[in-house]
Amino acid sequence: MADSLPSSSSKLVYFVVIPLILASALVLILNQKPSTTYSWPDSGAPPPVSAKDRELTSWAPPPPTAAATMEDQIVEKNYSDLERAEASLARARARIQEAQRSNQTSYDPDYVPSGPMYRNPNAFHRSYLEMEKLFRIYVYEDGDPPLFHYSKSLGILGIEGILIHHIEISNFRTRDPGKAHVFFVPISAQSIANYAYVIHNRAWSPLQNIARDYVNLISTKYPYWNRTLGHDHFMLACHDWAPKISKGVPLLFKNSIRVLCNANTSEGFKPSVDVSMPEIYLPGGKMDGLIGGPPPSTRSVLVFYSGGVHGYIRQILMDQWKDKDPEVQIHEYLPRNMSYYGMFRKSKYCICPSGWEVASPRTVEALYTGCVPVLLKDHYAKPFDDVLDWSKFSVDIRVSQIPELKNVLKAIPEERYIEMQRIGVEVRRHFEVNFPPKRYDVFHMILHSIWLRRMNVQLHDTYEN
Ligand SMILES: *[C@@H]1O[C@H](CO)[C@@H](O)[C@H](O)[C@H]1NC(C)=O
Ligand SMILES: *[C@@H]1O[C@H](CO)[C@@H](O)[C@H](O)[C@H]1NC(C)=O
Ligand SMILES: *[C@@H]1O[C@H](CO)[C@@H](O)[C@H](O)[C@H]1NC(C)=O
Ligand SMILES: *[C@@H]1O[C@H](CO)[C@@H](O)[C@H](O)[C@H]1NC(C)=O
Ligand SMILES: *[C@@H]1O[C@H](CO)[C@@H](O)[C@H](O)[C@H]1NC(C)=O
Repeated sequence: MADSLPSSSSKLVYFVVIPLILASALVLILNQKPSTTYSWPDSGAPPPVSAKDRELTSWAPPPPTAAATMEDQIVEKNYSDLERAEASLARARARIQEAQRSNQTSYDPDYVPSGPMYRNPNAFHRSYLEMEKLFRIYVYEDGDPPLFHYSKSLGILGIEGILIHHIEISNFRTRDPGKAHVFFVPISAQSIANYAYVIHNRAWSPLQNIARDYVNLISTKYPYWNRTLGHDHFMLACHDWAPKISKGVPLLFKNSIRVLCNANTSEGFKPSVDVSMPEIYLPGGKMDGLIGGPPPSTRSVLVFYSGGVHGYIRQILMDQWKDKDPEVQIHEYLPRNMSYYGMFRKSKYCICPSGWEVASPRTVEALYTGCVPVLLKDHYAKPFDDVLDWSKFSVDIRVSQIPELKNVLKAIPEERYIEMQRIGVEVRRHFEVNFPPKRYDVFHMILHSIWLRRMNVQLHDTYEN
């Protein structure tokens, strides 16, 4: 593609934002204008992002290789690895658009997504199947544990360690970077915070330098980072400080796919580029006994929350509701005669407020136990929002509505509550952690989120003088 690039620039990465698989790529080519929205076609799409978010240095129409005709021409020209990767993504995109257009379900022995919680069940299913068939991840091998290739898999941030490990041993991993669609930068924000943070010295730079040195290493040693300026690279972290750490590496922050629990849109999280990861706490690192809860009819408590007063949202909640109303069970410390998970199972609604960071393991705990999550957060990008319509199985409450909490929940008709509860039980498969991972579980949903974002851009080789 070098011949179409201006010779004045020494290094440019060209990409096109494909309107997530859905609207026709052809329209895009004809308009010669990148779409700036990330959306499945129906309502409830994440907020649009401007081209500026992507730091578009320039824009060129997609090359002819983007069409699904590359195989015919392969004998005539030597294509780069990136062009081949793009061509396979273009074909997948076309098949997903077709599944969406024809509204036909695909065969699947395990599970066929259907129901109101899916924004577009057929497109999602086809996209998921294409991912299983095609998606290849290259994991940089440089760096040693514990800062790289490893993170703790216990505790409330344990999902970071679990998923890094699952990526490392996954069938999606390829040892051949020439075959990869995305490149995993295996830094662990949790380990960096644990090992490199000096108490009382609140400086970010020692932490950021570890990430920067790693990216400098791989970008010097291999051609892949410079090739796309990090657009096809991703990191994964659950630690609160991951956004700050990644900010120390400007291209990682701006261009790469950051898979984060702390998906705070006020701190640079971009829903069309980054991936929101659910925070999941597994006591003892196991799923045993977590899943399941009684039906709505036996749930006697209207709403439950218990936890530390971390951050301003919880402070407001406590000020208004702590130990005040038997139907509104809001506690800082759980009374002796109550069990934490027992209360999730006894309650119709469970409040999941932001704490020190936007995410909280309570959302997944609520789904696991059949309690309808009440999300009380500002600036939070919900996990899998590209595929799942959260309004069908959770309730959003604004901070300003906290005084009205009881009335808001009481005003929800019983049938609507029962429906949300039923759907919550159905979607929880997407939040389950399995050892080893199972199809459609949280590991695969995270990979699918990365896959969608990779498909959402079309990358061209950088051009060097
Ligand atoms: C393709 O690459 C091969 C070897 O790498 C070379 O011999 C051949 O001339 C190239 N063909 C074109 C059209 O560039
Ligand atoms: C797609 O098909 C399903 C049944 O298979 C139907 O309920 C739904 O309304 C159809 N959607 C569109 C957009 O045609
Ligand atoms: C990538 O770019 C950086 C900075 O421009 C340069 O130092 C590095 O050598 C390049 N890497 C490769 C593999 O050429
Ligand atoms: C816990 O004890 C209090 C009184 O001490 C009582 O009002 C409440 O119903 C009990 N809760 C449960 C879940 O047993
Ligand atoms: C989200 O980011 C904004 C801006 O930095 C900050 O004010 C807010 O406290 C963050 N939310 C949480 C829950 O940390």
